[in-house]
Amino acid sequence: MNGSEHWDTVDAYFGAALAREDEALGAALRESKAAGLPPIAVSPTQGKLLRLLAEIQGARNILEIGTLGGYSTIWLARALPEDGRLISLEYDPVHADVAVRNLARAGLDRITEVRVGAALDSLPKLADENPPPFDLTFIDADKVNNPRYVEWALRLSRAGSLIIVDNVVREGRVADPADTDPSVVGTRAAIDLIATHPRLSGTAVQTVGSKGYDGFALARVLA
Ligand code: SAH
Ligand code: DHB
Ligand code: MG
Repeated sequence: MNGSEHWDTVDAYFGAALAREDEALGAALRESKAAGLPPIAVSPTQGKLLRLLAEIQGARNILEIGTLGGYSTIWLARALPEDGRLISLEYDPVHADVAVRNLARAGLDRITEVRVGAALDSLPKLADENPPPFDLTFIDADKVNNPRYVEWALRLSRAGSLIIVDNVVREGRVADPADTDPSVVGTRAAIDLIATHPRLSGTAVQTVGSKGYDGFALARVLA
């Protein structure tokens, strides 16, 4: 086996053992594919990680930026108590439509809400509603805006909230100063913000698996 064959084999093994997809998660991926959505949802083992982190947080309120077909949304919402709430922001109305149906099939329609529009338009409106602080924010939308999303997540957080940013490695491109792709520049700016912000303590972990070579940044809100 070469390197990436190992990644797939081991991810399939861990997924089958630890992050088995039930009917609702399987259907969410099938319906997303049938509707022509890109195959860029988190993997099962990553979805399980998101769920565990939300459970460890004791999360009652979760914010997601970037819904796609609602696959990560399902994993996260399953960490919530019956009276919990997850708000997910999605730019593309077709994606949002698929997600709403997938969430309903998963029995999560009462505790989840998908808001359609550019997240940078939805976030100020959300802030105007004075929502209870989000215990966890999962940032997984247009990477160019990652620093703006971290700032909004911080504003909507409490001391102890967790902010997670997906896709921070991108095959190592984040550490290549010559790479001026706006999404790479945006992600590096988010890492710099986490590194220097007095209210954040964070780290980043590289991942390999069925989604290739990528990673997450994790930041805890300090005050
Ligand atoms: N979190 C999902 C994957 C999200 S893919 C999962 O793991 O299952 C990224 C999503 O962000 C896409 O659906 C894309 O339409 C959406 N997106 C892109 N730009 C956006 C923006 N400005 N505001 C909100 N959503 C955006
Ligand atoms: C892409 C976006 C994602 O959020 C992801 O997890 C993988 C790939 C992309 O835009 O290519
Ligand atoms: Mg992602």
